[in-house]
Amino acid sequence: MPGLLLNTLRGENSGKRPIWLMRQAGRYLPEYRALRAEKGGFLALVYDTDAAAEITLQPIRRFGFDGAILFSDILIVPYAMGQNLEFLAGEGPKLSPRLVDHALEGLTAVPERLSPIYDTVAKVRASLDTDKTMLGFAGSPWTVATYMVAGEGSRDQHETRAMAYRDPAAFQAIIDGIVDVTVEYLSGQIAAGAEAVQLFDSWSGSLAPAQFEKWVVAPNARIVERVRALHPQTPIIGFPKGAGEKLAAYARETGVDAVGVDETIDPIWAARELPEGMPVQGNLDPLLLLSGGAELEKQAHAVLDAFAARPHVFNLGHGIGQHTPIAHVEDLLRVVRTWQRQA
Ligand code: CP3
Repeated sequence: MPGLLLNTLRGENSGKRPIWLMRQAGRYLPEYRALRAEKGGFLALVYDTDAAAEITLQPIRRFGFDGAILFSDILIVPYAMGQNLEFLAGEGPKLSPRLVDHALEGLTAVPERLSPIYDTVAKVRASLDTDKTMLGFAGSPWTVATYMVAGEGSRDQHETRAMAYRDPAAFQAIIDGIVDVTVEYLSGQIAAGAEAVQLFDSWSGSLAPAQFEKWVVAPNARIVERVRALHPQTPIIGFPKGAGEKLAAYARETGVDAVGVDETIDPIWAARELPEGMPVQGNLDPLLLLSGGAELEKQAHAVLDAFAARPHVFNLGHGIGQHTPIAHVEDLLRVVRTWQRQA
């Protein structure tokens, strides 16, 4: 029996809100930190499929969220495309050679770097209750490209934005390569048991409108079309963080089944402007989960009220912060689960 989260992503509004949190598996959980210390680095955890399955399940055991999101990373795709990947403590991810000074054609693909991730999905699905939804994910081409080009995270993605203007043909080839591997990666996750998938476009907010159409909307639309042709039953959530008012065009033009809304967007605006009946996900400010208290409850109610007339998956506007107190997550769950729409 599909659970509340999957039904909501399929367009049902039962009045009850499913909840999961982006980055729900991770450093704010002591059980994650313990396993990470035991196994070494982040990538070692991702490729130890028993450990990765265990980490995926940790937040479900502790909080009973409606969805379990695969423990992996968006940068597994560049790793499978042949870049070296390292997560250095305190420095974030490093990819080499960086494509700002190395041609894409010079990379040798390593597709076997994807298959362990599918094993993790299968292991999680096998031990997850049937009313919980297994969520797969990938990064969107623009966001993944910003790491591949610069070799690391950057504040405003300027090297990648400059390359896209300077050499659109070379940049298009990078995007096309990411699209192909992402379709394969998501299809593999779905075949292994993922029941819905999310496309994370964390840096879509840095693009001018015409570039947003070209590098966010168009490649996401191609991924959606191809994944849907292979897996028509699997809802696809698109999350173009920072899209602002461009979220409405993204929702209409990419073909995604549901959209993630970040915390900078007024949920009343989103409820009004997004296509009628489209499920939405979001959008509590993660900092409220850090600070807690009466304001957390008040703002969670505002989100619940604003999205009451639509299928709505409760979530944050972006990932949960590593210093978030566990007690505040428990408070939020209580608020969301006991909320009833005021007549
Ligand atoms: O949501 C989840 O719990 C599932 C797992 C997940 C991770 N990364 C695990 C992770 C997901 C969905 C991601 C997505 C991801 N990864 C994004 C898009 C979403 C977003 O947050 O904007 C991006 C941009 C990345 C790339 C990435 N991975 C960065 C920049 C970093 C370093 C910064 C940081 O937060 O530590 C990572 C590492 C990473 N990915 C960690 C986790 C749990 C932390 C690893 C550790 O030190 O233990």
